[in-house]
Formats: sequence, structure tokens, C-alpha cells
Amino acid sequence: MTLPTTHNDDFAMQILHLDSSILGTASASRKLSFNIVARLVALHPDSQVIYRDLASDPALHLSSEHLAAWQGAGAKGDLLTEDLFKGNAYLQELLESQVVVIGTPMYNLTIPTPLKAWIDRIALVGKTFHYTADGPEGLLKNKKAYIASSRGGIYSEGSPAAPLEHQESYLIGLLGFLGISEPTVIRAEGLAINAQVKDSAIARALETIAAINE
Ligand SMILES: Cc1cc2nc3c(=O)[nH]c(=O)nc-3n(C[C@H](O)[C@H](O)[C@H](O)COP(=O)(O)O)c2cc1C
Repeated sequence: MTLPTTHNDDFAMQILHLDSSILGTASASRKLSFNIVARLVALHPDSQVIYRDLASDPALHLSSEHLAAWQGAGAKGDLLTEDLFKGNAYLQELLESQVVVIGTPMYNLTIPTPLKAWIDRIALVGKTFHYTADGPEGLLKNKKAYIASSRGGIYSEGSPAAPLEHQESYLIGLLGFLGISEPTVIRAEGLAINAQVKDSAIARALETIAAINE
């Protein structure tokens, strides 16, 4: 995708910024996602940023009550009503954004559950994908995604633990299923090995972010 340029923008680019780490200000993925968004805003000063801290304000797990409400039964109770409203807002924010920046640590080999709960609200047939005679087709064309990934161990291609990597690969697969192809992954891994490995992994990731130029 070609992003709008800083000059001559017809419209303000909307960036959807998601974080999902439970580590607050000590989080590496939050640091990376923050810096990605800051870099994009520096390149596109008219950008608007919508921020969701999924860790501190997660959606509920999907339930039979959610399905019943979607099928027209009406929402029972304030908790479900509020949660359905949140899910609709998730979808609207994504549809209206040109760029999505996702901060995700690896938890138990995959993404944190609040990020999965977000996905459960935006991966909707007829809205973000549909089925054709040739199979499923993503409807979110012309969007760009950045994945700010952090993990304690090393799972990159070629490492012994690579077959256990279900964090970035899952997100990349899911985004592709929805039509957002080739997300940019910015990764800091091996963070639990020692302080030196951690510091240099984060420094390398920040250098990559500083080099983003579109
Ligand atoms: C609940 C939990 C599960 C984790 N599971 C894994 C894991 O499966 N593999 C791994 O390499 N690191 C794992 N870690 C370590 C985190 O991925 C690592 O600390 C990372 O830096 C967290 O990202 P953050 O700094 O953005 O919070 C886990 C951490 C927590 C809190």
C-alpha cells in the first residue's frame, strides 16, 4: 500500500494503535508500538490516532449470549450491552483506519487473550471477509499493518524453537485472511535471556522503526 504523503493530503490518515501487554510502562511491545505510531505521525502530521489498551480494558470472551444478541434476541444486562457496544466500536475503528499498529507480546507461544478477544469482534463474515466460490476473501484491502512483537525466547526462523512460534505467524495469517497482506513485523526477542540481549534487541527494533519512511 502507498501511504498518503505529508504534503497534499486529501484526508487525515487514521491510525489504530492497539496494545496488549500486561507489563504497563515496563513493556517492550508497548515501547515499540508507541515508537512506530510516533514515527508514522512524524511522517504524516495530519494523522489521527485511535488508541485501545486491550490489556486494561478487554472485551469479554464470546458467549452464547453474544450469539443470541447478534441473532436479534436483544442484549440481556448492562455488561453484555456495554460489551456489544465495545465490539461494534472495535470494528468501526478498524474499518475507518488506514493503518493498524498492534503491540503484542508472546504469551504461552501465542498472542495475549485480550488481543484474541479483539480479533473475535472484528473477524466478521460480510464485514471484514466473505466466502466466494474460490474460498474466503478478505475485505480489508488497502490497509497497512505493523506488528510490534516482543518475546522472552528466540523463535525466529532457523532457531530450535521456531516450530513453536504461533504469535507473529498467527497474526500475519489472520491479517492476510482479512485482506491486510504483508504486515511489517518489528520484533524484539530473547528478552528473558539477559539484560544485554534485551537491551540490544530493543535498540535494534528502535533503529528499524526510525528507518520507517512511508
Ligand atoms: C503470561 C506470560 C506468558 C509468557 N509466555 C512466553 C512464551 O511462551 N514464550 C516466550 O518466549 N516468552 C513468554 N513470556 C515472556 C514475554 O513474552 C516477554 O516477557 C515479553 O517481553 C513480554 O512483552 P512485553 O514486554 O511487551 O510485556 C511470557 C510472559 C508472560 C507474562
